[in-house]
Amino acid sequence: MAVVDSKAVHDMANARSPTLHPRARRLHPWPVRLMHWANAVAVVVMIGSGWRIYDNDPIFSFINFPVPFTLGGEPALTFRLHGDAGFGNALLWHFAFMWLLVINGIAYLTYGVFTGRFRRMLWPISLRELLKTAKDALSFELTHSDITTYNAVQRVLYVGVILALIVIVAAGLAIWKPVQLHVITALLGGFQGARLVHFLAMLAIVAFLVVHVSLSLIEIRTLKAMVTGGPIVPAPVRPAPFHPVPGE
Ligand code: HEM
Repeated sequence: MAVVDSKAVHDMANARSPTLHPRARRLHPWPVRLMHWANAVAVVVMIGSGWRIYDNDPIFSFINFPVPFTLGGEPALTFRLHGDAGFGNALLWHFAFMWLLVINGIAYLTYGVFTGRFRRMLWPISLRELLKTAKDALSFELTHSDITTYNAVQRVLYVGVILALIVIVAAGLAIWKPVQLHVITALLGGFQGARLVHFLAMLAIVAFLVVHVSLSLIEIRTLKAMVTGGPIVPAPVRPAPFHPVPGE
């Protein structure tokens, strides 16, 4: 498992002219920042257009999304021009930005796996640390002095939202091509089941976003780091290979 010496991180981040290891890099290298913000744009457009599409045929009669929070054009104008209140426009937004979401998502997953970023930043998740961090956060005792590592709650949230994005894409494909992709549609309980899964995954992503954006505004250094790259961190230190002691 790759570990990063947090004292070394701190020293390097604060050193005036650190002697950089050839593999030292910013906390968030440019591909991560580019993919993160491209994903943010894609998710916002997908949610806004998805809400207008949902409003056209709601799953729950008591849940409707207010037009100003949706994407698809001014309803009266689009009705006059195209005979619908923005449903067709919303579908066009949804189908255009799904490509950005999926292609960018595949690039991010590939990058995260092959550069070891997921292993370094999002793993392992210890249940004990998770409970302690959650308790500290709920009692407003959580400090985030070292922004170069994610705490257990952040790791769970990030892994969770990545899984929710994978589920929402799978369910979206099942709704889009229910005949060609009937295996996925069947696995999700049929067309209506896939719609419900798509909707619930959207709710999970929106809940994540509310917490995520609030926390990044409260701890503004993390937001700046996601824009500028943040402090320089040393190359990950790998533990010495394990050599079993004979006789043990
Ligand atoms: C739209 C406004 C958004 C803001 C202001 C924002 C801000 C940030 C910040 C500041 C970080 C770094 C956290 C830290 O260093 O402690 C981060 C990381 C992350 N964000 Fe966002 N984010 C936004 C949208 C999203 C969206 C839409 C998603 C996914 C649905 C997302 C998923 C993630 C993930 C998975 C990470 C960890 C990335 C990694 O380290 O590889 N973010 N975000």
